Amino acid sequence: MPYSSIKKKTDFNQIIYLRAKLQNRICSFFESSLTHVYLIITNILLLFASCQDAESVKLQVYISEGQRLYEQKCANCHQKDGTGLRKLIPPLAQADYLIKNKDQLACIVKYGISGEITVNNQNYNLSMPSNEGLSDRHIAQILTYINTKWAGAQVRTSDEQVKERLKQCK
Ligand code: HEC
Repeated sequence: MPYSSIKKKTDFNQIIYLRAKLQNRICSFFESSLTHVYLIITNILLLFASCQDAESVKLQVYISEGQRLYEQKCANCHQKDGTGLRKLIPPLAQADYLIKNKDQLACIVKYGISGEITVNNQNYNLSMPSNEGLSDRHIAQILTYINTKWAGAQVRTSDEQVKERLKQCK
């Protein structure tokens, strides 16, 4: 083979080689930035998932603390299963009153309630004592327990919600 054609072939190989190299660089640039994008997305998802996890753990804590407090402070009258006591103490389990008066519950738990009230079409007229020693958190836990167990709620009542509602007690 004459020298010139060998040189041409080398040049040609050189071009192919350079092109391949360039292509490789471009690809690896895109691949690495894609990897970054994936990493960022996965991290955001993980972060979101762990926030959700934290909230569901909190919900479980409020439910179990709420149950403990309920059994200590409320079950004597409303009964452990929330069914109340005949025509004297109204039920909490499946009570329409709980759903209709959601915003009043914190005040009822803290300051008690008296006068005639109607729960599931039955009138009651005795007084419920106050629980002024309970903190906002304790009230939030009790409400989380009764609302998730008997009023179909899926979420936690927060301490802040209780604090806000208590400002509006009459
Ligand atoms: C000494 C008995 C007694 C205790 C203890 C008691 N309650 Fe009551 N509760 C009553 C009575 C009686 C009424 C109805 C008052 C009326 O007729 O106005 C009532 C009413 C209620 C109501 C509104 C009506 C309904 O059935 O939805 C809620 C909610 C309630 N109580 C929650 C609680 C919670 C939560 C506790 C515990 C922190 C508690 N009670 C402790 C006697 C009690």
